[in-house]
Amino acid sequence: MMMKRRLLIVALTDSKKIDNSGHEVRRFPDSLLFGTATASYQVEGAWNEDGKSENIWDRLTHTQPCLVKNCDTGDIADNSYYNYRRDVEMMRELGLDFYRFSLSWSRVLPTSFPDQINEAGVNYYNNLINEMLKYNIQPMITLYHWDLPQKLQELGGWANPHIVDWFSDYSRVMFELFGDRVKYWFTINEPREVCYQGYAGQSMAPAYNISGMAEYLCAKNLLVAHAKVYHMYNEEYRPTQGGLVGIVLSASWFEPENEGDEEAAEELRQFEWGSFAHPIFSESGDFPPVMKEKIAAKSAAQGFLRSRLPEFTSEEIDLIKGSSDFFGLNHYTTNLVYRNDTVNGMYSSVSYYDDIEVGFYQSTEWPETGATWLKMVPWGFYKLLTKIREDYNNPPVFITENGCASREGLDDDTRVTYYKSYLDVMLDAIEDGSDVRVYTAWSLMDNFEWLEGYYDRFGLYEVDYESSERTRTPRKSAFLYKEILRTRTLDMHFEPDATLPMTIDEGH
Ligand code: NOJ
Repeated sequence: MMMKRRLLIVALTDSKKIDNSGHEVRRFPDSLLFGTATASYQVEGAWNEDGKSENIWDRLTHTQPCLVKNCDTGDIADNSYYNYRRDVEMMRELGLDFYRFSLSWSRVLPTSFPDQINEAGVNYYNNLINEMLKYNIQPMITLYHWDLPQKLQELGGWANPHIVDWFSDYSRVMFELFGDRVKYWFTINEPREVCYQGYAGQSMAPAYNISGMAEYLCAKNLLVAHAKVYHMYNEEYRPTQGGLVGIVLSASWFEPENEGDEEAAEELRQFEWGSFAHPIFSESGDFPPVMKEKIAAKSAAQGFLRSRLPEFTSEEIDLIKGSSDFFGLNHYTTNLVYRNDTVNGMYSSVSYYDDIEVGFYQSTEWPETGATWLKMVPWGFYKLLTKIREDYNNPPVFITENGCASREGLDDDTRVTYYKSYLDVMLDAIEDGSDVRVYTAWSLMDNFEWLEGYYDRFGLYEVDYESSERTRTPRKSAFLYKEILRTRTLDMHFEPDATLPMTIDEGH
């Protein structure tokens, strides 16, 4: 007969306790919500079915196929358009409080505009939301997770100021359609990746490659669009729907390589995520002063007649300031930073990194995971949470993504260690006073990892891309996450066993 393990808890410090096997366990705050996340293009598939129109990732994967590893596409992906019941079953197996997913703009508004609403697309999201709510799993919706309708891209996408109206109109329709049941909204996922990787660089659609220029136009328009939608929800929908709305920023930790590099590291932090955090969360608003100064000085020296960083009007500064109910944070890793005044030897003379004048890299001593850019550095997460608390007057923080990659296979011990160590330092930050309210593991299951295709696997569940069902199987980390959610504690000694059957606990 199996003995049920009873947790005998003895108080140590704030969250540290000893259980009856002698292990130290740490308790999470009762109010902390746990979930997982995905995004539409990465999981849905059905790329041209039931009235959906083309988006920028459909275009990129079909016209430049081998830009993506193995020439993979999201045409079928995890086929979640058809597999949503299984997806919700997995959420129940894990015992999630919520699930964060995104809406495909071109699936619900095939013309990009509200003149036509695609009923089949709306039904899909209604079915998913209603299935989740049946089991008390809260839907958290991201309005924009990188799959812009192709038509809007042809009009310049986020570099065209009219995106403010296009995004507001789309968001209004979504609040009308789903806001009666959805109480957590994220406007835009990772503006830095949207603007920098897609407009300055070439590692995300639309791969414009116009560095030092396009990303700054994108950043301005994106911030105004976000703020307009925040105020629209706040004024027109919050009174009756009563939800929360905010933005999701990506932030790596940037650690100075040497003592003398603190200024360089801080400048990189201000460019990389301060560019979006400062306008929203600082007391003064606007782009970070160092960013304005550096780009203006470079632009003048290069012969431009004005700064390549566009200015906000004072009305826009006020509109954007405070326009988020929480600090949505995607965090994965850390880099070491050094001053480099000769960046333009490496890039064309006008470029984002030339504007910043730094170089950065990851230490070879840090443990690797399955993604080349993502080493395991938990102390960086702690430092980042501390800085957000100190710089922005301790805002409520929603960790909207955290996790690491592996290759295929169920024995993902590295991911198990990653989650344990990142959650451990998150608890340290909470004990120091950080107001962390939400934690989200990326990802529920393997999915289309952008230019890495299906090579980098981020899932708690493995997805079999050889099977037409896209069979999902829990990895070790799924068993770890389930145990954490069941006990609401972190036991660094818990060793998950992926050979056990995965079941749904009572009440889920
Ligand atoms: C952040 C992005 O939001 C998500 O789409 C991506 O898959 C993960 N990072 C992992 O790279």
